[in-house]
Amino acid sequence: GPQCDLQGLWRNELGSNMTLSAPAADWTFSGSYHTAVAATTKQILVSPLQGSQQPPGAKGQPTFGFTVQWQFTDSTTAFVGQCFVDRRGKEILETTWLLQEEVPSRRDVWKATRVGTSVFTRIK
Ligand code: BTN
Repeated sequence: GPQCDLQGLWRNELGSNMTLSAPAADWTFSGSYHTAVAATTKQILVSPLQGSQQPPGAKGQPTFGFTVQWQFTDSTTAFVGQCFVDRRGKEILETTWLLQEEVPSRRDVWKATRVGTSVFTRIK
């Protein structure tokens, strides 16, 4: 069947946009993330991401992961997911993320992590 290609411009249900580069020979990739929303009130800045994917197998629907190092706040987000091709040939990224906020002390670790799911569709 058709292969799922991570390279390109993607948008999620929040209106966030990300660009993923073509993978290197070792299947690592980089990119940039422009979030539509933030947990802080600071001015949002486009932020770099670094990730890797599994080599596309027979089904061509690889798993992947990447982290975003936010440029406007101290938090980090890790995304993991899988690329799918639907029956119409449309590519979809089904992801789960963890947003880790910097907290002042170990006493606050209980509230430092947010979790969610996100679906990305290709816009380019
Ligand atoms: C922060 O506010 O600490 C940094 C920005 C976090 C944006 C989060 S990451 C998970 C979720 N999906 C998005 O596209 N944006 C939010």
